[in-house]
Amino acid sequence: MEANYSRVLISGALLTSENLNELEQLAFTEFNCEGVEESNLIESEVDEILGERAFCGGELPEDVILDLDREAQGNNQKKIFYFNSTIDGDLFKKFVSENFSLTVESSEESNQDWNIEWKKHFKPIEVSEDLRVMPSFYPHHEKSDIIINPGMGFGTGSHETTYLCLKIFDQLLKAGQINSYDKVLDFGCGSGILGIAAKKLSANVTVEFMDIDRDALRNCTENIMLNFPNEDLGNLKIVARDRFVSQKYNFIFANILLNVLKLEKDSILSCCAANTYVLFSGILSSQLEELKDHYLKVVDYAIIKEEIKGDWAALLIQVK
Ligand SMILES: C[S@@+](CC[C@H](N)C(=O)[O-])C[C@H]1O[C@@H](n2cnc3c(N)ncnc32)[C@H](O)[C@@H]1O
Repeated sequence: MEANYSRVLISGALLTSENLNELEQLAFTEFNCEGVEESNLIESEVDEILGERAFCGGELPEDVILDLDREAQGNNQKKIFYFNSTIDGDLFKKFVSENFSLTVESSEESNQDWNIEWKKHFKPIEVSEDLRVMPSFYPHHEKSDIIINPGMGFGTGSHETTYLCLKIFDQLLKAGQINSYDKVLDFGCGSGILGIAAKKLSANVTVEFMDIDRDALRNCTENIMLNFPNEDLGNLKIVARDRFVSQKYNFIFANILLNVLKLEKDSILSCCAANTYVLFSGILSSQLEELKDHYLKVVDYAIIKEEIKGDWAALLIQVK
């Protein structure tokens, strides 16, 4: 049987850092509290403040953290306490309402519901008749499916930009523009979905996965093992951004934000030789011209494809 857990939310104008400290101590020492949610902003509020920047991944720049802090201070304080036992949660709630002038709400959550809710967000995604992304918990997988265990790495295939990158790569391969022994770089690999797709679709390509975020690299490694069990992985390499040494590649995926694509311009271009394809995404369609201009200043290239899905865009260029 699935266990339930208890979530107790405390809020109110009288919630100060002093009584919060006292409450936290008591929750852990007297009521077997399992954890406290640190931020007093809820996830949707954080996403709203970050806007497009929420998409970036990796370390948040200092100015973004300051924005969040400012917003958090303006908000009414709230704190969420988690208890493995609903009895402990109820006792804590009773204690707070009897001893503090604060608002206390509690809810009983089922681990099973949480799992079901979570899984609802990750459905199979069909990119083309040969390319399907399947969450790892689905019972049936074809050998050609990209299996993704949704973890800390961005890239389940559901985001427009990932989808566009998969679609364009698939089309290019079908048009015979990718050679079987090509070298592919997945710059900002996240879950590894794009590099894994390249290897699934064209078994002999060499793929290098690179990301700035260690959690993403762990998730990427896990996904590679899921997709290529018992296979020789000699032509796959995973590397952290700070250890990355550029070489020349035939194809580069770069699904990151506009500001990162601009900041990393020299690095991306140092990986290009004549005829290298670079597939940019992570940009809004309104940012396409800015990206094109930024690269055109320093490199001559042909635009091979431009695709839009929702507000997002992908741009495939070929360096001359
Ligand atoms: C939008 S996600 C893309 C993930 C995956 N490639 C996809 O298409 O779904 C962008 C990724 O770039 C990584 N990233 C951000 N800045 C980076 C940088 N300067 N160098 C390398 N990776 C970076 C983030 O950690 C994140 O995993």
